[in-house]
Amino acid sequence: MRKKIIAGNWKMNMTPSKTVAFLNEIKPLVANEDVDVVFCVPAIDIIPAVEAVKGSNIEIGAENMYYKDNGAYTGEIAPDMLVDAGVKYVIIGHSERREYFAETDETVKLKVLKAFEYGLTPIICCGESLTQREQGVTIDWIRMQIKIAFQNVTAEQAKKAVIAYEPIWAIGTGKVATTEQAQEVCAAIRECIAEIYDEQTAAEIRIQYGGSVSAASAPELFAQADIDGGLVGGASLKLDFSKIVNYNK
Ligand code: 13P
Repeated sequence: MRKKIIAGNWKMNMTPSKTVAFLNEIKPLVANEDVDVVFCVPAIDIIPAVEAVKGSNIEIGAENMYYKDNGAYTGEIAPDMLVDAGVKYVIIGHSERREYFAETDETVKLKVLKAFEYGLTPIICCGESLTQREQGVTIDWIRMQIKIAFQNVTAEQAKKAVIAYEPIWAIGTGKVATTEQAQEVCAAIRECIAEIYDEQTAAEIRIQYGGSVSAASAPELFAQADIDGGLVGGASLKLDFSKIVNYNK
């Protein structure tokens, strides 16, 4: 039985002081033992966030990471910096990074490998544009993204990975994919993992849905056979996020 994982992605929001105030307030509200609760926060908020959630069930994640160990890469964050700061998860290949910051399937692949090398759990994002959905190539596109992201990843590593299926047209638009659309793609992702590895790996890997998840849409989405939680943007900046985490209560 896969444990649900519900993660917030704050994107470029929240100052360090707001981070501490918010996490202190939401901490007691998200103590759902059935769910792994993660907040992926901007790099500058990581250290105060880790401090603020000490002793709670919340883990802190990063929103990005570079694929080199260290060196002359001005402005980037190295994996050992995240580990040393107490980070457990790192979002890799979010569509906003692909669209605005030249992230490619190739850099996603390198970052995934680097995250595993340092014991970080990658939350690997994939998703189609509206045009791709309308042209009927969603599943082909997602399978390609997954196959490249998992190149050279071992089955043991893959079992620990988290995949976030985020249709680009559903991000920040208030337009949630229908439960059927979300389940169909998450099932196809699991099938693709079974093809690359085996049934056991496919049964263990956790697949999230992301894209305008709200307290209203979460219960039905998370009840689907292949949806193991959510990656939540806008709604993770509000105390109402606790309602998403407690979707089963
Ligand atoms: P929204 O929940 O704001 O649509 O964002 C989804 C997302 O991109 C999470 O990574």
